[in-house]
Amino acid sequence: MVGATLCHGKVYSLSLGQKLVRLRVMESGLDHHTARALLEWQIELGATEAIGDAPVDRYALPDKVSKAKKPAAAEPAKKPEPVDAAAVAKQAAKTAGSLVDLRAAMEAFDLCDLKRGARQLVFADGTPGARVMIIGEAPGRDEDREGKPFVGRAGQLLDRMLAAIDLDRRENVYITNVLPWRPPQNRDPKPEEIGMMKPFLEQHVALAKPEVLVVMGNISCQAVLGKRGITRLRGKWDQALNLPVIPMFHPAYLLRQPQMKRQAWADLLDLQARLRGGS
Ligand code: URA
Repeated sequence: MVGATLCHGKVYSLSLGQKLVRLRVMESGLDHHTARALLEWQIELGATEAIGDAPVDRYALPDKVSKAKKPAAAEPAKKPEPVDAAAVAKQAAKTAGSLVDLRAAMEAFDLCDLKRGARQLVFADGTPGARVMIIGEAPGRDEDREGKPFVGRAGQLLDRMLAAIDLDRRENVYITNVLPWRPPQNRDPKPEEIGMMKPFLEQHVALAKPEVLVVMGNISCQAVLGKRGITRLRGKWDQALNLPVIPMFHPAYLLRQPQMKRQAWADLLDLQARLRGGS
């Protein structure tokens, strides 16, 4: 047994592979993911038990405690049953018969670790039933705070891009993301997170009933089309989830690479032509 020196706080249970480990986390304002990384690191070093950071003189403890009946030996921790998170998600998504139900099913889904580090679920914004449905990657800091997709700088650029072809989320566009919870430090979503949440995305599209999908950036292309390489894919109509799909550069990328706005403009015009029945 090796002690971890994380103390002064709540007991924190971690199920890591075969081990069920209980440690204490400092109440230091650490977020879930940082606290977890610290604990995992201690466990890698061999820690299996929480200890205090100040020594305890057990001979000096009051009689009541030292003579107290020895507690029964703790039962060995049971190995948690492995859960097929994607199968659970599939079942939960399938039974959602409306967008309200789907939102509730996603709120109740506890198997994606991202949920623990996020402030809230970011479900969707815009007009359900619109002809155009945009699929972004995952919420960032602003979206996590507001509970709506694309409200930060990238979202503002997206709104301007849409306005250029007479689209507006308040009237004729519906917007969601591949993942509904913010990844820590805005890292890229992991393939297993995308796979786990994909049944919800598929049901989201089925319930929102758009005519076309716009997938923004590589992560969305991967999730919807099973392909990466946005520079090659952008502007080329594809098919997925029984709908025409157009991949486009992500607005966050366009903020970093404004010279690519020319291609984005061409793709927007193509989308507009399709909506007008011209392509
Ligand atoms: N980027 C995304 O892909 N989605 C958001 O909601 C915000 C930024």
